[in-house]
Amino acid sequence: MTRTPDFSGVSVCVFDAYGTLFDLGSFVDRFRGQLGAQAETLVGLWRRKQLEYSWLRSLMGRHTDFWHVTGESLDYALASLGIDNPSLRARLMEAWLMPRAFPEADQVLARLQGGGQRTAILSNGSPSMLVAGLNTTGLSDRVDCVLSVEKVGVFKPHPSTYKLVTDQFEVEPKQVCFVSSNSWDVAGAAAFGFRVAWVNRTAAGRENLPAGPDAVLADLSGLPALLGVG
Ligand code: LAC
Repeated sequence: MTRTPDFSGVSVCVFDAYGTLFDLGSFVDRFRGQLGAQAETLVGLWRRKQLEYSWLRSLMGRHTDFWHVTGESLDYALASLGIDNPSLRARLMEAWLMPRAFPEADQVLARLQGGGQRTAILSNGSPSMLVAGLNTTGLSDRVDCVLSVEKVGVFKPHPSTYKLVTDQFEVEPKQVCFVSSNSWDVAGAAAFGFRVAWVNRTAAGRENLPAGPDAVLADLSGLPALLGVG
């Protein structure tokens, strides 16, 4: 069933960072020279474990910041593939501080700002990771506010992380358009009550979770039209 998504009344557009504004696929390209076909396996396992550890730590009530979770999951992935190489490990970690933005990100953010939307990032990333990423990609001026879950000490999709947005901007959830390419984040944001746009670049299947996206986009470029920004 198709229905017209209703994003009227939205005044704040909030983005997930990794995989949504910052392209994680670029990590694989960067390490293919040294690791060959293993680059894809390593990065895939690393990202999966990174998310798993973030959710498990949240359930266990044993929070540590995303930089540490990223290191712990990398060590798991490297050991699984039998790789013991400290300088490679250091360069892999550094990649999180020097991401590449998706090509359309800058222009889309600029159009949203020009159209009167307030823009923000809400990410599991620690504040220093996010500042480094924004500096590297040149997107710092394109977001009005950077929110890290570190402020509440639990990871997305815990509702208190999404509440950081409504508290910061003093708005109702339905006045927020939340944009993520991570389907689990889409479910969490929709369950919180945001209007949600899922950037589904890989044409992945829908999750069977209690809440889902209001709109599905192939990349970020459809956002201005969705929000009625010319
Ligand atoms: C983020 C990661 C988890 O929150 O995608 O930016």
